[in-house]
Amino acid sequence: MIGDKKVLFSGMQATGNLTLGNYLGALKNWVSLCDEYECFYSVVDLHSITVRQDPSELRQRARKLLTLYIAAGLDPKKNCLYYQSHVSGHAELAWILNCFTYMGELNRMTQFKDKSAKHADNINAGLFTYPVLMAADILLYQADVVPVGKDQLQHLEITRDIAQRFNAIYGDVFTIPEPYLGKTGAKIMSLQDPDKKMSKSDENANASVYLMDDPDTVMRKFKRAVTDSEGCVRYCEEQPGIRNLIDIYGACTGKTPAEIEKEFDGKGYGDFKMAVGESVVAILKPLQERFAELEKDKGYLDGIIKENGEKAEYYALKTLRKVQKKVGFPERIR
Ligand code: TYM
Repeated sequence: MIGDKKVLFSGMQATGNLTLGNYLGALKNWVSLCDEYECFYSVVDLHSITVRQDPSELRQRARKLLTLYIAAGLDPKKNCLYYQSHVSGHAELAWILNCFTYMGELNRMTQFKDKSAKHADNINAGLFTYPVLMAADILLYQADVVPVGKDQLQHLEITRDIAQRFNAIYGDVFTIPEPYLGKTGAKIMSLQDPDKKMSKSDENANASVYLMDDPDTVMRKFKRAVTDSEGCVRYCEEQPGIRNLIDIYGACTGKTPAEIEKEFDGKGYGDFKMAVGESVVAILKPLQERFAELEKDKGYLDGIIKENGEKAEYYALKTLRKVQKKVGFPERIR
């Protein structure tokens, strides 16, 4: 707890261009949570270097992501928006937690298996211990809830296991976090292969809608979206392409699947795809406009980065000092 509020932590990688999946599955849901929770949202740049990065590009992307957090509606006075690399406690706690995590647990992580297959020439130890750093992110702020998309649930599970193991030895040090899935958009799928999640790193440019795509590009991608030969807009397992489009349309308009089925009853896929594309353009446009304005205001952003980084550091240190004492590190002499 911070004051009378429960704590919330989440983060995004500054790798690649953010997709509609990142927005609908995570960012969009974050905006309304700051009244109820004390919120920390990190740009997790330490995680990004598990895959080789161009340094100046990573720096630029990190700043863009932080700007996008604000453009999406996260008020930096009410939400702590900061770079993970500015708070050294993340890495320090991750080291300690590494010593409380088993190789067997990490071996089971599906994201590790996927990423090692994709980057077979660089299966580094950081990629393997990635979930431990993620656990450190969350536990460092004593987070009660962690809003994520479905793909991150396995990492949340291991975080809870590590925290419980640590607490069983040293007493109640860490809050055990709960995942928080949004009502809509928790798993947005690829527009070209609806059995795969929409991903920043998809090689097929038509598979993902990026938050900075212009309206024509968005419409073109939806026109080309893979559907089926059923010819009716129905929310069911057998029509994964249509189901994904219904999820997207629902997340953008607030309509339920039943309402959407009714709206497009007797209409063809062409009309439906146009409507989905337009609903996406309608939410991306204000986001892009606000982003362009914010990007120009260097001083404003720098101020936020400094202030919020210091705030995050303050809370991170509180937990870190407690953990260091528990495991037996000598106290600092002042
Ligand atoms: P990342 O950067 O891959 O994704 C950021 C958030 O977007 C969600 N997401 C999706 N949701 C729905 N449909 C999709 N197609 C989709 N693709 C991505 C993700 O679930 C995530 O919530 N390891 C994390 C970042 C991280 C983190 C943390 C998250 C580091 N430390 C601590 C929470 C708490 C990641 O790579 O997310």
